Amino acid sequence: MVKLSFLLLLGFFIAYGEGQALKVSASARGINIGCAYKNGGGPGTYNNTLSREFNGVVGENNMKWDGLQAVRGNFTFAGADAMVDFAQKNDMIVRGHTFVWHQQSGFVANMPAQATVQATRDTMFKVMKTHITTVMNRYKGKIYEWDIVNEAVARDSAGMRLGTGTSSSFWSLRTDAPNHNWDFVDSAYAYARQADPEAFLVYNDYDCEGMGKKSDLVYALVSRLKAKNLIDGIGLQCHFYVPGTSTGSNGAFVPSEMVANLKRLADLGLRISLTEIDFRVPTPPTSAHLAAQREAYETLLEICLANPNCKNFFLWGLNDGSSWIPNQYPGQGAPLLFDDSFNPKPAYIGLREVFQTPVAIRASRNGGRMLLSGKPWNEAFDLRGRALRALPAYSPFP
Ligand code: XIL
Repeated sequence: MVKLSFLLLLGFFIAYGEGQALKVSASARGINIGCAYKNGGGPGTYNNTLSREFNGVVGENNMKWDGLQAVRGNFTFAGADAMVDFAQKNDMIVRGHTFVWHQQSGFVANMPAQATVQATRDTMFKVMKTHITTVMNRYKGKIYEWDIVNEAVARDSAGMRLGTGTSSSFWSLRTDAPNHNWDFVDSAYAYARQADPEAFLVYNDYDCEGMGKKSDLVYALVSRLKAKNLIDGIGLQCHFYVPGTSTGSNGAFVPSEMVANLKRLADLGLRISLTEIDFRVPTPPTSAHLAAQREAYETLLEICLANPNCKNFFLWGLNDGSSWIPNQYPGQGAPLLFDDSFNPKPAYIGLREVFQTPVAIRASRNGGRMLLSGKPWNEAFDLRGRALRALPAYSPFP
């Protein structure tokens, strides 16, 4: 009898304890956990780790404009098709990323101005509609949600990217956006709705996760789209640096602000996706960096789990070796859950623990860190410290 209950207990821990893949515990908590898929994927460890741990993918580059139609009229679906096939075989959802953006846009970024402003506008809208309609028709019923417009908002000037300067957008320039209330944004969503009325449409941007000027501008934009029934969800990219390890104009992670922003976005009736999560650290990282990174990941997941509208937690890459960060921010990197050799990092263990620990137990165990404590988040957060709970030793995934 004693032996039997011991075996049952052991079975319980094997099924629900340490060894459980992230996707299993994420679905148990009602959210999806996904990952950016590098071009062509990768046989062997890459694909095996991806399908073992995640139940969602998003093309890191293969569904961008230049991945699908670099040359006008010449659609190239091979990369995106392969990813969608991989996802379907492995029972994963696919986020579609992205149509109207100022980068990686192939021929459309270089369309010459025509004789009149109106003629230029007409051409841009025609090309935009063809692209959105063609791609959405091809993948109808296979895409969980689409990032229709990406990064249209800017902190400076009119609050939107303009035709010139550091935050330039050819879409703004060629559609004469300042004189037309940035109608290229609304039009993109209208074309998407027409192409597939069942599709779930998202606006995606960065540095608008917390509160502040850009976040307010994004809020205003999505409010306008929502009022016209052109949008269903918001994507917050979440390219952060680990608090305390860096500074910079981009990428501050402020938990209390994020809780507040998620609340107002949810109150607007939007589903929330965290779409491109990575927490960069100086490279090579120390064990203190990796421990702080773990804490940051845990906190971000807790914020998502605490808001019923936050349904998707997507990492911007599978392992550190395939991350875009070292190129984008020289001297920083190692921002993901798996290291170069696909071993799980402390952040992975941390997320697994957050997923698997019943919320009530977690709150009582760590000094009322979660919102359940009834304290405002920032107060609860300040109370935190690594001393409040012992961290399990880092053990590679079995
Ligand atoms: C990045 C990719 O990761 C890189 O491989 C590519 O060279 C540039 O774009 N915001 C986005 C993503 O919406 O599409 C970007 O992805 C990262 C920033």
